[in-house]
Amino acid sequence: MKALVLAGGSGTRLRPFSYSMPKQLIPVANRPVLDYVLGTIVDLGVTEVGVIVGDRADEIRQALGDGSRLGARLTYIRQEAPLGLAHAVVIARDFLGDEDFVMYLGDNMLPDGIAPIAAEFAEHRPAAHVAVYKVPDPRAFGVAELGPGGEVLRLVEKPQAPRSDLALMGVYFFTAAVHEAVRSIGPSTRGELEITDALQWLVSAGAHVRAGRYEGYWKDTGNVEDLLDCNRHVLHGLRPRVDGGVDAASTLVGPVVVERGARVAGSRIEGPAIIGEGTVVQDSHIGPHTSIGRACTVVDSRLEHSIALDGASVTGVRGLRSSVIGRSASVGTSGQSADRYRLVVGDHTRVEVAA
Ligand code: G1P
Repeated sequence: MKALVLAGGSGTRLRPFSYSMPKQLIPVANRPVLDYVLGTIVDLGVTEVGVIVGDRADEIRQALGDGSRLGARLTYIRQEAPLGLAHAVVIARDFLGDEDFVMYLGDNMLPDGIAPIAAEFAEHRPAAHVAVYKVPDPRAFGVAELGPGGEVLRLVEKPQAPRSDLALMGVYFFTAAVHEAVRSIGPSTRGELEITDALQWLVSAGAHVRAGRYEGYWKDTGNVEDLLDCNRHVLHGLRPRVDGGVDAASTLVGPVVVERGARVAGSRIEGPAIIGEGTVVQDSHIGPHTSIGRACTVVDSRLEHSIALDGASVTGVRGLRSSVIGRSASVGTSGQSADRYRLVVGDHTRVEVAA
């Protein structure tokens, strides 16, 4: 079996972060989402992985290299424009050959792994097997209608009036039967070749398409709220480790990771939390549910349920919660009177201050 990881999407819902980095490289507990994606695939025993990349190809290559760090062998496949998930299968035809494969969207986090989904596919070996998840509002997803035995009766991409509450997750198992399907469909109203349409094509052609309910944790990290939730979930699994320096005036509570070269002074770190390599935390209170990236500076501040990316600095701000601070961004005080704010805010940025 091979794997196809899709890392070409542009991530408009993750602006402004996706302006300067591919959304698939956004860190969760200080590791890029794609690290987890590849880890999950390698855990299945699948090591031959095609990675679909778009105009952010260089950064993704730089982060993942040849994949050996993660135990995988990567083949990069360039998608000239974001023409859809089924289009990605079309252009990966030579890489995939006639082998079965798992297709995995590069912004989907399933920290509990996908072994149960792989086992269901192996047991029944239908033409395609999809994983579905019960969601309160499925309109933003592909939606599946299932028969009593788990067979797929109908699939619709982002329906206005969903006929079930089962969303397609970003994990699909295919046999070579999918190749005819992806060549047979036309573009959707959003101008893309939808994998949901290819699956529906298989169903209509009488092929066996199955779905299994996934019970573990799943988030598509496509927006800030889901990213923070996912960060919180992954941090809960952290094994505490202190490789950096923590002075006697500091307290660590619960599972805390302090990476090499980090320095914590006069601070309280409340786990689960991670302090990245080379970061300085001074006279601050961090956590719970907070990741501070590499080479950050946090002084005289309070951060909770938040993510700071590499090189960020926070000084003198005591009420940060549910915040994401971009690479080398700085948040601080201005020395002006209490009811004044000075902001230098980039495109599609969000600032919320006390009312
Ligand atoms: C894609 C699929 C959709 C699926 C979703 C899961 O949507 O088209 O069927 O439910 O991923 O994350 P997109 O993220 O491209 O809007």
